[in-house]
Amino acid sequence: MEVIILPTAAEASEIAARLVARQIREKPASVLGLATGGTPCKLYELLARMHHSNGLDFSRVTSFNLDEYVGIDPTHPASYHRFMDENFFSKVNIPREKIHIPDGLTKDVPAHCAAYEQAIRDAGGIDLQILGLGSDGHLGFNEPGSSLVSRTRIKTLTARTRSDNERFFTGGMEVPHHTITMGLGTIMESRICLLLAFGEGKARAVAASVEGPVTASVPGSLLQFHPRAKLLLDAEAASLLTRTEYYQWVYKNKPAWQIDL
Ligand code: PGA
Repeated sequence: MEVIILPTAAEASEIAARLVARQIREKPASVLGLATGGTPCKLYELLARMHHSNGLDFSRVTSFNLDEYVGIDPTHPASYHRFMDENFFSKVNIPREKIHIPDGLTKDVPAHCAAYEQAIRDAGGIDLQILGLGSDGHLGFNEPGSSLVSRTRIKTLTARTRSDNERFFTGGMEVPHHTITMGLGTIMESRICLLLAFGEGKARAVAASVEGPVTASVPGSLLQFHPRAKLLLDAEAASLLTRTEYYQWVYKNKPAWQIDL
């Protein structure tokens, strides 16, 4: 795990944007795994800016989103389809047919999940997966207790995640109880995992994921087994880590040949 701590979320998002841009420039037909939530908004804004100002070309990119709520229409204001359209897809040039998000209205959840897994395989696997971290340690919507080898499937949200996400549901609409999410096994097959976590509300989950034991009780901790996991944290999210000085020393003293930012 590479732990990179920046003073602010904006600075960490800048680095994340540079990493994603580098991935696309090196491999224009990259397969990106995408996340929703408050955390990646700045990253998407920066990538859209790079598209408009620096010609960052997404025309050969394929994308797979981590998750979607079950039973909610793609046009619903809190759906992840709508979130991605508003925050990213409407601002860059990923062809519509290369965009994949689980269908929360599918009539056959197991068949849809199996087809989603197959589509990832058919695309050649995910090159770079962007991840947020739940305050309960979840990755995607793999809540604590999720199988460490799980595949795309239906999951039931914890009360904590439902309350964390209430802010996206206005007008008395309830947060759904179920989602379709890529599994932890699916996420772990991505060639690079880029996890972003900001704010003090994530500090416990970050510390448990980075310095605690690997356990299904903290899905983020599974990244300790990933060969290329980078964590981009702001100072608040990093505030409960104990090896902070070491992570900062490593980052400042990277050999020139290893610098990929
Ligand atoms: P957030 O959610 O970015 O809205 O904090 C992260 C997550 O639940 O994975």
